[in-house]
This record gives sequence, structure tokens and C-alpha cells, in this order.
Amino acid sequence: KLSRKFVDGLPKAELHVHIEGTLEAEMEFAIAKRNQIDIGAKTPADIDRNYGVGLPEFLKAYYKGMQVLRTKQDFYDLTAAFLRKEADSNVKHLELFFDPQAHTSRGIPFATVIEGIHEAIVDAASLDIDVQLIMCFLREYSQESAMQTLKEAEPYHKKGWILGVGLDSDEHHNPPLKFMLVFAKARNQGYYLTMHCDLHQVDTVDHIKQALEIITVDRLDHGLNIVENADLMTFLIDIKIGITACPMAYFYTRKVMEQKAINKLFNNGALISFNSDDPAYKGSNYINDVYYKFAQKCNWSEKELVRIAQNSFKTSWISQQEKESYL
Ligand code: HPA
Ligand code: ZN
Repeated sequence: KLSRKFVDGLPKAELHVHIEGTLEAEMEFAIAKRNQIDIGAKTPADIDRNYGVGLPEFLKAYYKGMQVLRTKQDFYDLTAAFLRKEADSNVKHLELFFDPQAHTSRGIPFATVIEGIHEAIVDAASLDIDVQLIMCFLREYSQESAMQTLKEAEPYHKKGWILGVGLDSDEHHNPPLKFMLVFAKARNQGYYLTMHCDLHQVDTVDHIKQALEIITVDRLDHGLNIVENADLMTFLIDIKIGITACPMAYFYTRKVMEQKAINKLFNNGALISFNSDDPAYKGSNYINDVYYKFAQKCNWSEKELVRIAQNSFKTSWISQQEKESYL
């Protein structure tokens, strides 16, 4: 029988988690108070994280919550708390998403965001966790806006602070190809590339096809609808591209965990990993909750979870040598 202790002790990498999605109600409340922002809550419990199901409903709550983040200290505190949590969860390597346009669009300078996050990463040096950043573009914004963001990121990328770029937020009518030029440019600058192809959006399979065949991403986020196209799934497996599943996120966006798709990918040898996505908005299910709850649902034993954890290292963007030290 699978024990929680085994899950908690298993060394793992996390590859799909948004720093803004780790903002628990308690911290939102405390930061709002410190910044003298009225969020209409008398206690943290007044902050409603039961936003319903569906990506648009989630996104509304997500962008509302992060409004309290204004200063470098806010971004520092958010990141510092999460890194402690990850280290405690035996996450050895973390590739962390951040959404700069969600802040620059509110008048917060790019520098405030990246410097706050980065300082927390530097100060976590004693924690035995390796942390890299992935900058996501918001897909409902224009390609020009993404280009501008890429330009603002350039000095930080050159310093080694940002390893990859991603694409997230509202997928409806916002296909990967809308961002073809900005992803080509990012690749040219040496970034790794990944992209969300969320569950059951309009034309998801087409979006996955674009991401894999035209953008040629280095990893695919969510992307579980790939099981609907056997050729595409075989292609993903053949080229050994990682696919980041977030089982608890599906529970909160569709009321079901996408067990079948995950099992199908897993059983066919796809390099699928488990991740928490936006834990503070998905029932406070952090990485070990995700591993444990999914395994319980599907009667998985230690063996399967070990393979999931191995996949997480294999499909991370660390050097081959570092990978081997974990496998
Ligand atoms: N999907 C789309 N946009 C997001 C997500 C997600 O899972 N998390 C944060 N922004
Ligand atoms: Zn995500």
C-alpha cells in the first residue's frame, strides 16, 4: 500500500507551476493590508477561492488575486514562501512560471517583478533546491506585446535569470501560431520553449499540432487532448518531448481528473510528469498532494510514481550530467 511518507520523500522536479498561482488567501490578505488595498475581505476566509469550474472562471479569480502584488517585497515574499514549501516537499529542481504582462499591464515595472522573484531564489541557496524561471506570455495579448516583454527580459536572460519562455492564459481563439515570430526570436536568443495547450479548449488538438510541429516546443504543458490523435501521440513519444500534467487542476477546471488520458500516455511510454499548476487556487493541493491523490485514485503503487518522478527530471532543462545524478 502506497504511503504518504514515500510520496513526501521521493525526490522530484516540478516543471509546471505559476508563482502567481501559489498566492494563498492568507498571504493575499496580509499583502493587501500592508499595501493598504481594499479587497473587500475582513479575514482571509472572506477571500473566496471557490470560483467554479472552467478555465475562464479560474483565470478571473487568478488575475483578481494577484492585484495585491505591487512591490518587489511582495514578489519576494510570495516566492520565498513557495520555495520553502517546495524544498520541504523534496522538490530538487523547479522550473517556475511567472506572468510579467499580468503585472506590467497594471503599471508594475518588469524590473520589480523579476528582481523580487530572483532575490528570493538567490536567498534560497541554502535550501537544496535548484530553481529556474520560465517567462510566460499571456495569449490574449498581442504578439507585439509579447515581443515587448521579450525585449524587457533580454538583460535578465543574458544574466542567466530566465531559462525558458511559455504561453498561458486564455486559449480561446489564441492559437500557438499567433506567437510564431516571438517564439522563433526567443529560440534564437537561447531560451527553451514550452506552451500550454489546455484541456478541452476550442481546437486544442490543432494547437498541440502547431506547438509540436511548427513552433517545435521543447515541452508541452497540459496537452492531454493529444490522446485523441494517435499519430500525434506517437510523434510526441518518438521525439521524447515531455508533457506536464496537472491532475488536480483538471479536477478544478472540469470536475474530473483526466485519469484515462494520463494513464494512456503513461502506459504508452510518454514522458509525462505531475505538477501542481496553481496550488493556491486548486484546493491548496501542492506537488505531493497531487502525486498521492492521483495514485490513490488510480491504484498506483510506488513503482508508477517513481517513473513519474524520473520523467520529471528527464524532461527538465538541466544538463545531462545533472539528470543522471537524479536517475
Ligand atoms: N492555464 C492557462 N493559463 C494559466 C494557467 C493554466 O493552467 N495557470 C495560470 N495561467
Ligand atoms: Zn499552467
